[in-house]
Amino acid sequence: MKNFTHAIPTKLYFGEGQIDKLDAALRGFGKNVLLAYGGGSIKKIGLYDTVTGILTAGGFTVTELSGIEPNPRIESVRLGVKLCKENKIDVILAVGGGSTIDCCKAIAAGVYYKGDLWEMVASRHGILKALPLVDILTLAATGSEYDAGGVISNLEINEKLGNVYTYPAVSICDPTYTYSVSAYQTAAGTADIMSHIFEGYFSRTEDSSLSDYIAEGILKTAIKYLPIALKEPTNYEARANLMMIASVACSGIPEYGKQGTGWPCHSMEHELSAFYDITHGVGLAILTPRWMRFILKKDPSCAWRFVRFAKNVWGLSGDDETLAIAGIAALENFFREAKIPMTLTELGIGEEHVAEMAAHANRGNYLKNAFVPLTTEDIEEIFKNCL
Ligand code: NZQ
Ligand code: ZN
Repeated sequence: MKNFTHAIPTKLYFGEGQIDKLDAALRGFGKNVLLAYGGGSIKKIGLYDTVTGILTAGGFTVTELSGIEPNPRIESVRLGVKLCKENKIDVILAVGGGSTIDCCKAIAAGVYYKGDLWEMVASRHGILKALPLVDILTLAATGSEYDAGGVISNLEINEKLGNVYTYPAVSICDPTYTYSVSAYQTAAGTADIMSHIFEGYFSRTEDSSLSDYIAEGILKTAIKYLPIALKEPTNYEARANLMMIASVACSGIPEYGKQGTGWPCHSMEHELSAFYDITHGVGLAILTPRWMRFILKKDPSCAWRFVRFAKNVWGLSGDDETLAIAGIAALENFFREAKIPMTLTELGIGEEHVAEMAAHANRGNYLKNAFVPLTTEDIEEIFKNCL
């Protein structure tokens, strides 16, 4: 088992009605609040009125940043930083999904960054200082409510880059806010949660037992509850379980003690989003079974992991060779049944940028430590297998 550090400073309030912690969560940081949200879903579900009601009653001074895009853009980060500086913001309140929270993390750090903000996004130097961030999560997917990462896009240069900015000080996770999430986003979000697990589960480390069992438990929870949430969008048990696994899946905990892999599917998906602005979880659902089949064929010595996946996650039985393939087929079928488009062609994506995307995904030989190391040519082939 590898060494690891557990240090997640976020206070997470989970469950129906936890919005009553909002006033106290903000109050300690000051009076000037940047209220940031996306394209308007929070208004449709009445959450905007609830939040502004609490802020007004609490005597906070509110500046708004609306319209944060899915796959948030550097332009929104720039605008947010400007608003924070002009209005002497003390604390940022992000209300929405991963895109809104990610954008706010970059804004929080950007306020103190001396230099161009895209340079900050692309920097590998570590961010030292950020404004405090409180969030109210409305979509179970990325885990941004419980990690320090954020992913920002610059569509002018076809780049979508992740970086580490800041942990939220407080996250409020009320599953009832996710009742209105569309079937498409619910399925995509669950594919994202599952991918966060696959990226660590498919590793050469064999002796970090608790991490593997946590990973399998999260996958089984996703498999149990996604179909229920799709059928009954207001089923609290289903929404609550999906929301809970989302936060743990991307927290690092399921990878503790394991060799880092470079997260190959995320590395490839960020290229797809950067070029075609697609939904993150959909890209992952398309890539994952193709990546699995590719690495199993390239290096059959990794088959033991796929056998374990088939047995422990899908409850399948049989001989090892059949099992390894059957587990992957079960996953692909699960995504199909959730009505996720399962080819890039369905998203209007062709071969035109495959070479460029593959080279960028593997810049600096980034995927050399993956479960099965990938070359740029390998990545090109995986993309083509997704068409
Ligand atoms: O913009 P609004 O109107 O709010 O609508 C959003 C958006 O259209 C909608 N939505 C959110 N909550 C809703 C709702 N619609 C109805 N009811 C609700 N309660 O859903 C759409 C997608 O929202 P978005 O925030 O983009 O989705 P998600 O949470 O999946 O975030 C995706 C972004 O997070 C990044 C992705 O790359 C992508 O940019 N990631 C962030 C990570 C992190 N911080 O750790 C890790 C992930 O691997 C991922 O890369
Ligand atoms: Zn993800």
